Amino acid sequence: MGQKQQEQWTSKLGFILAAAGSAIGLGAIWKLPYVAGTSGGGAFFLIFLLFTIFLGLPLLLAEFTIGRHTQKEAVSAYRTIAPGSFWHWIGKLGVGTSFLLLSFYSVVGGWIVIYLARSFTQGVQGLEVNQFGQMFEETISNPFLVVFAHFIFLLMTILVVQGGVQKGIERFSKIMMPALFILFLIIVIRSVTLEGASEGIQFFLMPDFSSITGETILFALGQAFFALSLGVSIMVTYSSYLKSGESLPKSAVSIVSLTIFISLLAGLAIFPAVFSFGLEPAEGPPLIFIVLPAVFSSIPLGNIFFILFMSLLLFATLTSAFSLLEMVVASITKNDAAKRKKATWVAGILIFIMGIPSALSFGVMSGVSFFGHSFFDLMDFLVSNVMLPLGALLIAIFTPLKLKKDALYEEMRRGSSLKRVMFDIWYILIKYVTPIAIIIVFLHVLGAFDLF
Ligand code: PHE
Repeated sequence: MGQKQQEQWTSKLGFILAAAGSAIGLGAIWKLPYVAGTSGGGAFFLIFLLFTIFLGLPLLLAEFTIGRHTQKEAVSAYRTIAPGSFWHWIGKLGVGTSFLLLSFYSVVGGWIVIYLARSFTQGVQGLEVNQFGQMFEETISNPFLVVFAHFIFLLMTILVVQGGVQKGIERFSKIMMPALFILFLIIVIRSVTLEGASEGIQFFLMPDFSSITGETILFALGQAFFALSLGVSIMVTYSSYLKSGESLPKSAVSIVSLTIFISLLAGLAIFPAVFSFGLEPAEGPPLIFIVLPAVFSSIPLGNIFFILFMSLLLFATLTSAFSLLEMVVASITKNDAAKRKKATWVAGILIFIMGIPSALSFGVMSGVSFFGHSFFDLMDFLVSNVMLPLGALLIAIFTPLKLKKDALYEEMRRGSSLKRVMFDIWYILIKYVTPIAIIIVFLHVLGAFDLF
């Protein structure tokens, strides 16, 4: 087979930045507020937190451990651990999921591109609150514009991934991530000090348990995996580029904490403003695109902040998109650098085509419904609430089944001083709690939908 050039992170920081970059993106910033807004508010957020800590964190650590242990991208990683079995299908499922996920993710990435472009020519200040909804609708219903923007977003992703994610991500993340936090804090401060903001804070942080349905629980489960990039084995692939003794438990804890923190900020940026402006929390996918411009319009120098925020949001979205495309590309090239360029373009173009119906879902195809959903919603539902939890379930079953407990402990302890008790807790969470919880949620939902 010849000597293949295995990709490597050039620094310890590179890995953590890339993994955090994959996790933090539209999941915490765009999806969390809109799903919380449509299903359960504070109750949703609480369940999401529980799933993130008790299922997400252990799973993230499991994916990291598998990747570094095998030094192989996802499909080959499962094949190496369990040769001659069907387990490598977890990796293939991950590739398929990433493909579909990126197809609609990039559509939202395109909306950001449009908003960013127009924020240079047309500011947000001086507009009435109700004009922002209209502005979104006008933007989104133009078929050429949304497809073009979806294309531009993917093009940016392709251009970075074809050269190797490493170089692309490491350089920028160091500055962009902290900047995003700071800007978010500014929005939160503005939002929570708006008149009538407390109603929004209450909506987001005070769980109303009477509003919990099977759907709330399933969506919170999907959201936990979506926001942490879990269930697709992306974290397996990323940690396979890691040679050194970076502490996996520490990295996992930081990524989970960051994701929770950003999710909290996103909710606190959006909901107080929603209630203060008399908008609708159940607006769906457009929510942040209507609310955020409205918040910025009420901040001094709002136009400049808006441009800054959209740039940072675009960056956060791109780093997640890189990981999704990387997952597909790595499964084709199997670490063979010579194939990378072509594989990236082919995968990128196919994803572009797959995303077109999603891009048109809010305009010319808004009347076309699949089981009562638009094409975009159908994709999102299928990926977030079926494929990600299914992938997560399989990884949770696979890890303790196919890897010896001692080997897992050994790998996890490389570069870290993980205590045995912590490892044992992790082991119980991954072996019993995670699979059982996912199965219960699935069964509950099937029951709730009256399929039995
Ligand atoms: N975690 C990313 C986000 O929140 C989305 C994502 C999901 C990326 C699954 C990779 C895999 O934006």
